[in-house]
Amino acid sequence: MIIGVDYYPEHWDRALWRSDADLMQKTGVRVVRMAEFTWCRLEPRENEYDFEWLDEAVGIFAERGIRVVLGTPTNCPPRWFCEKYPDALPVGRDGRRNPIGIRGHRCYNAPDFLEHAKRLLERMTKRYADNEAVIAWQIDNEPEANFCFCKKCIEKYRAWVKRKYDSLENVNRAYGNDVWSGEYSSWEQLDPPFGDYPSAWLNPAYMLDFSRYASDDMIEYVQLQAEIIRRNCPGTAVTTNVWFCENMPDFYKTFERLDFVSYDNYPPTRLPDNPEEYYSHAFHLDRMRGVRRQSFWVMEQLSGGLGCWSPMSRTPAPGMISGYSLQAFARGADTVVHFRWRTAVSGAEMHWHGLIDHSNVPGRRFEEFARLCRTAEELADLRGTEIRSEVAILCSTDSEYAFKLQPQTNGMYYREQLQLLHAAFTKCGLNVDVIGEREDISGYRLVAAPELYVTDSDVVKKLYEFAENGGTVILTNRCGVKDEHNNCIMSPLPAPYRKLAGCRVLEYDPIGYDRVPVRFEDGSVFWGRQWCDILQEETAGVLARYDGEFYKGSAAITENEYGSGKVYYIGTVGEKKLYDRLVPDILRKCGIEIIPGLPDNVEITTRTGADIEARFIFNNTGRQQTFLLDGGELCLQPFEMKVERRQRTL
Ligand code: GAL
Ligand code: ZN
Repeated sequence: MIIGVDYYPEHWDRALWRSDADLMQKTGVRVVRMAEFTWCRLEPRENEYDFEWLDEAVGIFAERGIRVVLGTPTNCPPRWFCEKYPDALPVGRDGRRNPIGIRGHRCYNAPDFLEHAKRLLERMTKRYADNEAVIAWQIDNEPEANFCFCKKCIEKYRAWVKRKYDSLENVNRAYGNDVWSGEYSSWEQLDPPFGDYPSAWLNPAYMLDFSRYASDDMIEYVQLQAEIIRRNCPGTAVTTNVWFCENMPDFYKTFERLDFVSYDNYPPTRLPDNPEEYYSHAFHLDRMRGVRRQSFWVMEQLSGGLGCWSPMSRTPAPGMISGYSLQAFARGADTVVHFRWRTAVSGAEMHWHGLIDHSNVPGRRFEEFARLCRTAEELADLRGTEIRSEVAILCSTDSEYAFKLQPQTNGMYYREQLQLLHAAFTKCGLNVDVIGEREDISGYRLVAAPELYVTDSDVVKKLYEFAENGGTVILTNRCGVKDEHNNCIMSPLPAPYRKLAGCRVLEYDPIGYDRVPVRFEDGSVFWGRQWCDILQEETAGVLARYDGEFYKGSAAITENEYGSGKVYYIGTVGEKKLYDRLVPDILRKCGIEIIPGLPDNVEITTRTGADIEARFIFNNTGRQQTFLLDGGELCLQPFEMKVERRQRTL
């Protein structure tokens, strides 16, 4: 495992660069990422470039055996540029140009921006092409799907729709534009969603396509940079860093043609009081591993209390800095880069804390980080090991977009049911894959496909085949609701999955913040929340029924035999304990071995290599936990990670 830090030489007096690098070397930092916001230093005046300072910084790290990731500085064009080319600033939903001085002030499609960005990138990539210290490039910084509404972007949006549908008739049909006199009679009528209206007031088919366009358009921008880097620096890895932002791109497509996934990981520093609340980043980390189904990087990792655009959060409790970094490793990261070395003393992020405080006196968090670096060295041989899993959760970008566009009921959001299932699998001590809905699933025993709300017919077919051939499938409420355009399907729910599930939805009750009891055959009762599908079993048997409301006695959870497999349908969004009651049984029935009796928030994963196997046992709580594992008693301190190794005999 490799530990790195994000470093901003441009923020510090040069005198500090060497002493910082010395301390990094001594501490065990192996990688630094830098330069992603430095355009105005690299091109202080139009066509006048200055790379010397960056050469020096890279050199200082290289001399100390520390490798460098260079960010392309395109996130923030300099003021002289914006002043001269105001059309390169992005336009918001209100039709106004964004101001400079914050960041991300560039339109991905502005010709002047692209021309200048390409010119800078050509120089920068050529300059570091033969520099062995530079091991990877990060494109831009946290690029988001393109929600710029400038003239150029509107043209690109129209062209995207035209390519997809060919004719306006096809668009009108796909979007169901007969509602509210919405039919287009010329391409110029296709505008982005201007104005501050809730997205749910706009046509959902149009809005889903707009989200898809916005993601594709960002990917085009990223690829444009990737091509320059690859041409000039063949053999150097190319990535970009993502997080779960509001305008999230499709991660699967974003990374398809990059070399590895990078994720910015900031777990909460204050754990929720409500034990039902899901706070572990285990799901996000598994999801990032699932994007390319291979190991990934954390490009920014929690190092101190967060702040700036929000009031400051609590400082990480003892154990958190190291524990959360190791948690990422346990779930498939090979490199974790901490954000940031030292807290900025100026600028809007001065309260987003790094490893070292403003005082520049290394303290408690730094000491913990130093111990983490030593642990990482001890785990070096586990680099390249894999996380093998018999269980997968399917993740659908379209469904996530569509859920966001039309909130289904109060308190309901796409990720929750996925996380609840993930937490229940995790509590059984299993590795869990979270993968794109379009991935091959034939290698798994169990596939959970929660809330596949927007239907992709290939996915439907795949799930039928999977069950036919003996696989176990978990479906849930809101599966099969929409066609591929985000229009409703005129057929009893779960429409395309009805035969597979062996049940139909007679009616549904979006209960929002209300709760309805759900009773299992053995008499145990749990809360159903947010949503109740009132189920009519067809070929399926019933595992649990509603125990309240006018549908008391109706099926809530069913089990169907399909082909040589089994299919479960969960009609509600249960409280956490409901899944802990249901999931172990399902796992046992499909022959997956579980570790029973693990306490909540103890997370176990296994990484497997050719001749070694390492089991990671993580106490993701702020209290000491003692529990039985393999017949022995194990005691873990708050956020402690224990790693057990075993030679594998082949
Ligand atoms: C990330 C971003 C960094 C920094 C950090 C802390 O999202 O990539 O540049 O802003 O958050 O605020
Ligand atoms: Zn634009």
